[in-house]
Amino acid sequence: MNFRKINKKKSAYDNDIAEVLVTEKELKEITKRLGEEISCDHEGQELVIVCVLRGSIIATADIVRNIRPHCTMDFMVASSYFGGTETSGSVLIKKDLETDIKGKHVVIIEDILDSGFTLSLLRKELLKREPASLKICALLDKPEKRVADIQADYVGKVIENKFVVGYGLDYDEKYRNIPYVGVLKESVYSKSE
Ligand code: IMP
Ligand code: MG
Repeated sequence: MNFRKINKKKSAYDNDIAEVLVTEKELKEITKRLGEEISCDHEGQELVIVCVLRGSIIATADIVRNIRPHCTMDFMVASSYFGGTETSGSVLIKKDLETDIKGKHVVIIEDILDSGFTLSLLRKELLKREPASLKICALLDKPEKRVADIQADYVGKVIENKFVVGYGLDYDEKYRNIPYVGVLKESVYSKSE
């Protein structure tokens, strides 16, 4: 197989991205810093990392590799968008944790904090289970659209109010495999909405 030829080929998403918002290099620095911040706050503790699927999978994979204390990982599926670019205003827990978090130190990793509905519901739900502590880490933060009273303890990058994809973030389940975070061209979603 000729890899040089393959590298020259365009990716399926290339024409759909208006601009790169967070580069691969910056994402590497951000996830390193987030891992370090989480480690410093949990020195000597054992952590449960809660990855909110599917958007946070890539950020979580990079952040946990920068966490120094022992940690276990578990996964939740929550959704408030149902395929569009605007939140529906209600959140559905489609897959719950398998770990009993009572008395444990928990950090939720979310891909992006937008209206805040998803995280405020998840936080409320997990607090009922009486963890020793509960912190929130958001790779990206869009504060302009915040409705729910919530903020992240660890923020990767504050971004403007644009619909972004890549590095785990999707539009209609696509674009998660882009290695950077980019702004999706409006023409892509105005076609289908
Ligand atoms: P919130 O409940 O409005 O804060 O939305 C949080 C969830 O909506 C995130 O976990 C994402 O899955 C999704 N979301 C919000 N903004 C974007 C975006 O710009 N691109 C892709 N997904 C987004
Ligand atoms: Mg999500």
